[in-house]
Amino acid sequence: MPRNLIDITDLSVEEINQLIATAEDIIANPVKYQDACAHKQLATLFFEPSTRTRLSFESAMLALGGSTLGFSEASSSSTAKGETVGDTIHTVSCYADIIAMRHPKEGAPYAASQFSEVPIINAGDGGHNHPTQTLTDLLTIRSLKGKLSGFTIGLCGDLKYGRTVHSLVKALSRYEGVRFIFISPEELQIPRHIITEVLEPSHQDYREVRSLEEVIGELDVLYMTRIQQERFFNEEEYLRLKGCYQLDEAMLRLAPADMPVLHPLPRIDEISTDVDNDPRAAYFDQVHNGVYIRMAIILALLGIPDPLTGKTVLDH
Ligand code: NCD
Repeated sequence: MPRNLIDITDLSVEEINQLIATAEDIIANPVKYQDACAHKQLATLFFEPSTRTRLSFESAMLALGGSTLGFSEASSSSTAKGETVGDTIHTVSCYADIIAMRHPKEGAPYAASQFSEVPIINAGDGGHNHPTQTLTDLLTIRSLKGKLSGFTIGLCGDLKYGRTVHSLVKALSRYEGVRFIFISPEELQIPRHIITEVLEPSHQDYREVRSLEEVIGELDVLYMTRIQQERFFNEEEYLRLKGCYQLDEAMLRLAPADMPVLHPLPRIDEISTDVDNDPRAAYFDQVHNGVYIRMAIILALLGIPDPLTGKTVLDH
């Protein structure tokens, strides 16, 4: 069985740190890696819209000297004719060495991995998980704060459907002394299973609040998210909740001077564009880091050794 990345907990904390270290080495020495994936192919199978995740996977594979193939909407694949995910994956794994897959159904990448001869990467499954965005977020936090432990993070917006939040909480709860402040309307609270299965067993300190303004002054990192319109069952409820948080320069004046603002993007109206020029705006740093961490992920899952040391990133 190949190694897959379906859930962030598929990686140990040591492996996460190793992937981050590899991404940092790629940033420092890109030339060393430019042919590491020569003659390898990455397939991107996106059954849901994407800009950054799909393009950063493709950019990552090209920067490693490999090539890419795939589709960016289900309607242009045989799924539109009724083909099952299993048959699609079975087919694509004959063409590609590794597959990044995004799907609206929770668990679809896991199901796909049962049919695949090659590694499967979950590039987002419904409102569930998004492990490669989490690795991007961790690389960004580490580069800006110098550590992944002993800080307070505020996660704000749609914590119910925001898959990036679920994976990030799972990952950070495994580092020492991370304090979580969940900022959301009652209807979009962090799922109870994350509290009972992730936060309580890890004994991390957490709190749930409604107002961003009230807590922004005590945060070391702020993670904003959009309200996930496509996951609502009821359009009226979306219309009522949209626009519930709006971070602007005036509110940022209440925040610490060294509190980075992260957002997985796309943003709608939850961060006003006047924040973009603030030195704390880190969301375009995340976009940048997304390519390097995905280069590290591809190398790791393919078991390709470091061109200089001959060591692989992960044990297989
Ligand atoms: C996120 C996603 O797809 O979950 N985007 C991304 O991958 N950078 C966040 C979102 O869509 O809100």
